[in-house]
Amino acid sequence: MDKLLIEGGVALSGEVAISGAKNAALPLLCAALLSREPLTLTNVPDLNDIGTMLRLLQQMGVKTTREGNVVTLDASGLDNPVAPYEMVKTMRASILVLGPLVARCGEAKVSLPGGCAIGARPVDQHIKGLTAMGAQMSVEHGYVLARVPKLKGARLFTDMVTVTGTENLMMAACLAEGDTVIENAAREPEVVDLANCLVAMGAQISGAGTDVIRIRGVEKLHGATHRIMPDRIETGTYLCAAAVTGGDIRLTGTSASYLDAVIDKLMDAGCDIESSRDSIRIKAPARLNAVSLRTAPYPAFPTDMQAQFMAINAVASGTAIIRETIFENRFMHAVELIRLGADIRIDGNTAVIQGVDKLEGATVMATDLRASAGLVIAGLVARGETLIDRIYHLDRGYEQLEHKLSGLGAKVRRVK
Ligand code: UD1
Repeated sequence: MDKLLIEGGVALSGEVAISGAKNAALPLLCAALLSREPLTLTNVPDLNDIGTMLRLLQQMGVKTTREGNVVTLDASGLDNPVAPYEMVKTMRASILVLGPLVARCGEAKVSLPGGCAIGARPVDQHIKGLTAMGAQMSVEHGYVLARVPKLKGARLFTDMVTVTGTENLMMAACLAEGDTVIENAAREPEVVDLANCLVAMGAQISGAGTDVIRIRGVEKLHGATHRIMPDRIETGTYLCAAAVTGGDIRLTGTSASYLDAVIDKLMDAGCDIESSRDSIRIKAPARLNAVSLRTAPYPAFPTDMQAQFMAINAVASGTAIIRETIFENRFMHAVELIRLGADIRIDGNTAVIQGVDKLEGATVMATDLRASAGLVIAGLVARGETLIDRIYHLDRGYEQLEHKLSGLGAKVRRVK
């Protein structure tokens, strides 16, 4: 199993290109299921999760080709609306095939994703929405089964804001008969990116980016070409890496407009940030101020940036309080940061971080994707060597991580 060896202490400098967004790419790949005509996506990141989704779609009968960061999907031969457990268990976002399959095929059999390291993560809202649209839904032997001659538009309300839930229901509603309204919809930029692509395919959608999305069902969708938005979490992660090392870097191919809450906190921490339409420059002080935060759905502070901010707070001046409100078990990086010398106390969904003068390198274990990013950030500032085990989590969501960091001057290498 690969590990990442980091020798901390280098202030990052230079330029880094940000990749296409994983969390936009995954639903966009599934959108191809809705049409008999090819969908071409550009700016697709080369990540393990993308490979998993492509394999999942291929075994359903979708033809896929990939040249660099351009992926074309042809679902004209879709003949097996099944997502088996072996594939779904490695990636929860596989549930995103459910809505498109029911809409296009009138049936689907999708394994329940089960738990993951950060919490239970049920899919009851996806099931509730499709039921309201007339599908017969059941859960048998660990699989969600759906059957319906034709989905019908409906007024849908989700109990909590769910990103993939909103995306699944929006995709399903595109081919339903009549009008659908999704209330309490997720407002994440990735939902807007998906809606833009669906509209390019002929869907009728308004309100994406607000908490009420309206969809008028159409008979069929056609092919399209769509460029995937930049990854705002990768962007935020490099901003934190620069911030914690007292660095000065420019991030290209990305935009600050998706990251208000994160940039606001970095400025509170003492960083200078300038942004243009497609780049961001960050200059960090020698030591950051502690910044407290509370995670919540977009446009509030993203849970996917919580671990990275715990890492920067570990060496900041002062005390920070972090409240995690989205996932019940998302502090596993804290114990690993403590192994590096951080002073962190956890009480339920609250972490109190008392900044220390320095962290010391040690061997730590990555537990999930964003927790691993937090450990990388800590490793970049810790004295001596930090060895991060189980970095397959990082390979799921960060394209060329060690190359991009090395390009900024960090001493990072992958060890087999
Ligand atoms: C997406 C992101 C993930 C991010 C998360 C929250 C993708 C591929 N993944 O995950 O990176 O951390 O949003 O911003 O886009 N819930 C239910 N029932 C449901 C659905 C959700 O109880 O049917 C709960 C979840 O357990 C969680 C909360 O709602 O507590 C939000 O989850 P959700 O927005 O659905 O997360 P994902 O879409 O899986």
